[in-house]
Amino acid sequence: MVSIAALIPIVIGLFGAAIVIPWDKTIITEPLPRNTTATENCGLINDPKYRRRTVFFPSKGLQLEGWLYTPKGVEGRPPIVVLAHGIAGQKDMGLHPFAEVFAQRGLAVLTFDYRNFGGSDGEPRNWVSPKRHLEDWEAALDYVRSTLGAEVDVTRIGLWGTSFAGGHVLVTAAKEGGNISAVVSQVPHLSGFEVSKQSLKSRGVPQSVRLFLAGLHDRARDLVGLPPAYLKVAGPPGSNSFMELNDADMQLYLAKHPEHYMGGWQNRVLARLANEMSRYNPIHYVPKIKAPVLLVATMKDTLCPIAVAHRAAELNSNIQLLEKDVGHFDVYLGDLFDEVSVAQARFLVEKLGAVVPVHEAAEALPLL
Ligand SMILES: *[C@@H]1O[C@H](CO)[C@@H](O)[C@H](O)[C@H]1NC(C)=O
Ligand SMILES: *[C@@H]1O[C@H](CO)[C@@H](O)[C@H](O)[C@H]1NC(C)=O
Repeated sequence: MVSIAALIPIVIGLFGAAIVIPWDKTIITEPLPRNTTATENCGLINDPKYRRRTVFFPSKGLQLEGWLYTPKGVEGRPPIVVLAHGIAGQKDMGLHPFAEVFAQRGLAVLTFDYRNFGGSDGEPRNWVSPKRHLEDWEAALDYVRSTLGAEVDVTRIGLWGTSFAGGHVLVTAAKEGGNISAVVSQVPHLSGFEVSKQSLKSRGVPQSVRLFLAGLHDRARDLVGLPPAYLKVAGPPGSNSFMELNDADMQLYLAKHPEHYMGGWQNRVLARLANEMSRYNPIHYVPKIKAPVLLVATMKDTLCPIAVAHRAAELNSNIQLLEKDVGHFDVYLGDLFDEVSVAQARFLVEKLGAVVPVHEAAEALPLL
């Protein structure tokens, strides 16, 4: 029998190897500095149909930045929808067009950056963590309830999340019980287990091991106080990125991004996420959700398989499925954006009981 004591040097040896071996050129250990002057999209917006201002609120002792949209042309306090982005996304990377569509139709909207992203505080930058992101969602809801009561109706709150956040809104709605009145979950990450299985199939075993080892390397560096290790968020197949995309998807991914990213964002994310992905399974929370959910799923989705969306819809009769015969990134732009965002706005307006302002009321078409 091997004694525990005999294993200790082996464990220490493996740990040492995880720290020092620079086995992989796809790992970036150069620090990612925050650029607080990169804020050109952050000013007040005074549109004829809505106002947008920048707000701040705390999450676990750090300050988060949000944009608060309030609709014009409605009497009384409107309901509010809280929006946040998917994997390594920020509010300046394609969320504001959705917020604008909702605000034009009589909804207040709060969109925010997770800790370590965009205008929010936190180092190291670009740390994607399901646990931390879910805490930030709760912090946003606490902020809405504790601070915005004078201008919005905080008893009517909707959640909107896309991709990775499509999962966060389902988990949050399940935890919040009757306190959430409507949920939009767009091209959602539902099952880390399924995503990892699919990734193993498309990357093969050696590439999957390579991704996992990069995560261990980052965590080992963190334990001994070295600067963290990053991998690319998105890159071509074989690039050891979190999302390996073909040319067409890569172009769509980048098309919704601004010219200058808030906070000095770069296309990279802490590699430790590679060790957490498979354990994050929002689908387990789906049966507990009490609020009506609009689940927007895409049939040609290579990142969040539609079969899992179908399974989720069967787990809870509050889920209404809207399927589109396109890919994961098609819903952010062009005709698909128009169609999907308006369908979401109508769903939210109906479920949250918003009063559509006169300037939009003319186009009162059937819901879906
Ligand atoms: C920070 O962002 C601003 C605005 O985008 C840019 O002009 C400046 O060069 C950036 N600074 C650094 C150090 O990258
Ligand atoms: C729902 O909101 C009420 C009032 O803010 C609060 O007391 C309660 O704990 C909330 N429930 C959940 C499940 O968060």
